[in-house]
Amino acid sequence: MAEKQTSLVCFVTVLLLIQVVESDIGVNWGTISLHKMSPSTVVDLLKDNKIQKVKLFDADPDVMKGLMGSGLEVMVGIPNDMLALLSSSTVASDLWVSQNVSRYMVKGGVNIRYVAVGNEPFLTSYSGQYQSYVVPAMTNLQESLAKANLARNVKLVVPCNADAYESSLPSQGTFRPELTQIITQLVSFLNSNGSPFVVNIYPFLSLYGNSDFPQDYAFFEGTTHAVTDGPNVYSNAFDGNLDTLIAALAKIGYGQMPIVIGEVGWPTDGAIGANLTAARVFNQGLVKHVLSNKGTPLRPGVPPMDVYLFSLFDEGAKSVLPGNFERHWGIFSFDGQSKYPLNLGNGPLNNAKDVQYLPYRWCVANPYKNLAEAANHFKIACSYADCTTLNYGGSCYGIGAKGNISYAFNSYYQLQKQNPRSCDFDGLGMVTFLNPSIGVCRFLVGVSDHTTSSGFRLHNNWISVLLIVLWDAWLFLM
Ligand SMILES: *[C@@H]1O[C@H](CO)[C@@H](O)[C@H](O)[C@H]1NC(C)=O
Ligand SMILES: *[C@@H]1O[C@H](CO)[C@@H](O)[C@H](O)[C@H]1NC(C)=O
Ligand SMILES: *[C@@H]1O[C@H](CO)[C@@H](O)[C@H](O)[C@H]1NC(C)=O
Repeated sequence: MAEKQTSLVCFVTVLLLIQVVESDIGVNWGTISLHKMSPSTVVDLLKDNKIQKVKLFDADPDVMKGLMGSGLEVMVGIPNDMLALLSSSTVASDLWVSQNVSRYMVKGGVNIRYVAVGNEPFLTSYSGQYQSYVVPAMTNLQESLAKANLARNVKLVVPCNADAYESSLPSQGTFRPELTQIITQLVSFLNSNGSPFVVNIYPFLSLYGNSDFPQDYAFFEGTTHAVTDGPNVYSNAFDGNLDTLIAALAKIGYGQMPIVIGEVGWPTDGAIGANLTAARVFNQGLVKHVLSNKGTPLRPGVPPMDVYLFSLFDEGAKSVLPGNFERHWGIFSFDGQSKYPLNLGNGPLNNAKDVQYLPYRWCVANPYKNLAEAANHFKIACSYADCTTLNYGGSCYGIGAKGNISYAFNSYYQLQKQNPRSCDFDGLGMVTFLNPSIGVCRFLVGVSDHTTSSGFRLHNNWISVLLIVLWDAWLFLM
């Protein structure tokens, strides 16, 4: 009897230990930026904000170097276009592991915890072109990790898009029929290696893609459109989505699979519904919800293991195929300034320190020139620089034709590191010291490339400053 009771106590204790899972909030650090900050500034920013976990989309040597000795837990990534090779060649997987993992797993190196094999390889829009490579690539990589004696510390995962499963009610969740076999193999592989299932969840995209989607169901503030599913009531799309996945996993025999949220977030620009207020309300609601350890109706008390916000920074060179918002997911702007108040559990966000800005000057359309000829310059400037905020739904929409041209000129000029020739535009452009920003429409000043030789730049700068002062003075006197 006594023994039975002890074992019962043990059992309950274990159960409690399993139930009390603390989630960590990490971030995605993408690098498809037009203005890159030095990796060491970024790592300082992460540490300053007590962000312990960071997810990458590749294994960029500069970024990895910046992470060395930081102690941050890192998920490195393998792009989809490497999957075919890695699935067919153990030489390639050995090489990938040695060049991108082993090399950093040394004292004072990088604390690599996960390798993301592909990124959303099952996305419907890829029409299946990557899916057959995923499990064979993982098999090879697992063997390579084992050979390098790293299999215990480094886990392979596959960040999965939420369109891999579907259902109108969470409890009815299933994987897409054409994916069921592959996902079953994948999940069995993950399970036998002690890896979690990683999923990306985007209520913003549900809202963006469907005008009937109830607005308040996307957030975490209660809703007039709760979803009732048998005994369970869902008040937010995030929980509904997560439980759809949990039901789908249960259907293939893995209902207990630990889950990590690989990406979740809200953009601040480039679409109606993408703005600072919405992003703050969503992200803060999400963080509060996750840190409350409430879990979901299908997993009460068990929040996702980890949640990686998308994203750390805006990335101005990303494809706008999904929409103009794609370049505006950052909780920080490209220069490491927090865009809106957000508390990740450690108080308000701190901005990046010691950001090396280019000098405070801008390129605008010369008000004394006829801008009828500027259309082509506008187009070319915007094909290099990011002008997505000028479109309907963007923060610079409505600044007028001249404003548009100035914005394009300046974006290009900053991208060219303020090279004086890049503000020429056949004589239509001029450099100014007066910040041309209009209301919420910010005309940016670039950050300096840390690799530029500073001696040359300094000299160059003084000459341009002198010229600009003379030019501004002349305009003023006219
Ligand atoms: C290591 O990762 C980098 C960055 O993702 C990639 O360019 C490189 O090809 C990888 N190395 C090997 C040997 O595959
Ligand atoms: C911001 O976005 C939310 C929804 O995402 C929308 O309801 C709201 O009207 C937007 N605010 C502005 C000022 O556009
Ligand atoms: C400014 O540019 C945007 C994006 O190209 C365009 O939609 C808008 O109509 C332009 N505004 C004017 C006044 O030309």
